[in-house]
Amino acid sequence: MTEKWWHDKIAYQIYPKSFLDSNGDGIGDLRGIISKLDYIKALGIDIIWLSPIYKSPFVDQGYDISDYYAIAEEFGTMEEFDELLAEAKKRNMHIIMDLVINHCSDQHEWFRKALADPDGEYADYFYFREGKNGNPPSNYRSYFGGSCWEPVPGTDKYYLHMFAKEQPDLNWENPILRQKLFDMVNWWLEKGLAGFRIDAIMNIKKDLDFPDFGPDGPDGLSGCWRMIESVDGIGELLDDLKKNTFEKYEAFTVAEAFNLNKSELNKFIGENGYFSTIFDFSAQCLSDGKHGWYDSPDITFKKWRETIINSQLDVQKVGFEANIIENHDEPRGVSRFLPEYARNADGTKMLGTISVLLRGIPFIYQGQEIGMQNAIWKSVDEFNDINTIDQYYIARKAGLNNKDALAACCKMSRDNARTPMQWDGSEKAGFTDGEPWIKINPNCKEINAASQLDDLDSIFHYYQKLIALRKEKDIIVYGEFEPLCREDDQIFAYMRKLDEERLLTVCNFSEQSAEFEVPAEFEGSQCLITNLDRKVFKGKIVLKPYEAFVLYK
Ligand code: GLC
Repeated sequence: MTEKWWHDKIAYQIYPKSFLDSNGDGIGDLRGIISKLDYIKALGIDIIWLSPIYKSPFVDQGYDISDYYAIAEEFGTMEEFDELLAEAKKRNMHIIMDLVINHCSDQHEWFRKALADPDGEYADYFYFREGKNGNPPSNYRSYFGGSCWEPVPGTDKYYLHMFAKEQPDLNWENPILRQKLFDMVNWWLEKGLAGFRIDAIMNIKKDLDFPDFGPDGPDGLSGCWRMIESVDGIGELLDDLKKNTFEKYEAFTVAEAFNLNKSELNKFIGENGYFSTIFDFSAQCLSDGKHGWYDSPDITFKKWRETIINSQLDVQKVGFEANIIENHDEPRGVSRFLPEYARNADGTKMLGTISVLLRGIPFIYQGQEIGMQNAIWKSVDEFNDINTIDQYYIARKAGLNNKDALAACCKMSRDNARTPMQWDGSEKAGFTDGEPWIKINPNCKEINAASQLDDLDSIFHYYQKLIALRKEKDIIVYGEFEPLCREDDQIFAYMRKLDEERLLTVCNFSEQSAEFEVPAEFEGSQCLITNLDRKVFKGKIVLKPYEAFVLYK
């Protein structure tokens, strides 16, 4: 495997709207980010991914871009962005941005021109299609609910949107549009961007016949992903994208790619893959309900562990995946993957240990490094996220009462990750002097960066140590992954191997103590990190609840 500049790097995702507000409008901004670069650097981060900061009406929190060449006023100016790039560079950190090119905003000039002339050139930047017998062209349900087709006013046509109706899909079959997107990508790379996180990219290839599929819900529609899954030919589009943009700049690219076939991994992230890496969402997908969040299954420890193990084993044959516990679309990992009894500092450190030391590129989501947790939502009105509100009504329509529908949203809402970063224990968590755009988790009194920076035993300092270890030891970057105790009910343990070196990670996820036999080859090994205070690691040992340790030889 050829070494790449990003193999030993660690990334941190910033959700700008909720990171730090510097001007009192209740919305995080670039100035806020700049002022915290030293904090991020102190954690040991090399790559910062900014969720979208482009000009946008924020129907989907900036994932609806109305100008790819402008910074959202709420966040600041292009000069401030340039300053951010320069300040990051000074600290030897790289910035990557979100690249949202499956769709744009309905306020983008291309779409406005398309609506103004539905037979003209710009209509072909989108999918404008005639309806069928007074109905939309096909029976697809969008990811955010309702039909994927929205009428084009004054015509008998509809336009396609896989997400909200304010996010019309871009027509990747149109070479003029493709070239415009490539030019834009290169413009940002020329500016000094290190790469991109690429949004919803599996959706760019459509079946141009737009066939109907069997209905899979009471609304008589069929999830639009079924068309995406059944169509071939995305590879050519992705290859074209890479060759015309990323490749020339050695850009680091991480794609949001769901529903990938194992057999396709090599094409995506192999030596000459379309992307540097893709996120491993396999553990997150365990929550996928048949009909929505309301029938989302609980995640059992064994299933979760087996899922991670399997994806590690598959991916290491091919390349690197990006490992996450949470992101801006997911509830907080501590609230999701840890049982209630383990949602404390030791349990949080244990979860971090398992995740950061896996083979792959770790992506830490803002607040993860201090153990932020889901908020408690008292009413659906407290949510801001378009997806959460849709899921609430899906649950109600399926017959759930208000309390149960709300409970489903509390568990799964994307807003759990979007509550403001908890900088300190004050009323507004040190996030803003104004009115925050979304509620602040009142547990900021107990969980906040200020107190953890002062405490060497904190979750923050533990993450800092894990990250430093990954930089010190090549085995954590390149070592082969080998699972241990796969049948055990309590322990998640794995080995990493690089030539003669060995690394052993052992965690007890249960509320009871657990026995573990330290392999003989670890006799005389060094303990690199532990969340408790064990000194002797030999023979049969008894792990305390949520104890984690890492041995190296
Ligand atoms: C991706 C983003 C998500 C957004 C969607 C539509 O899944 O991560 O936040 O809503 O794409 O752009």
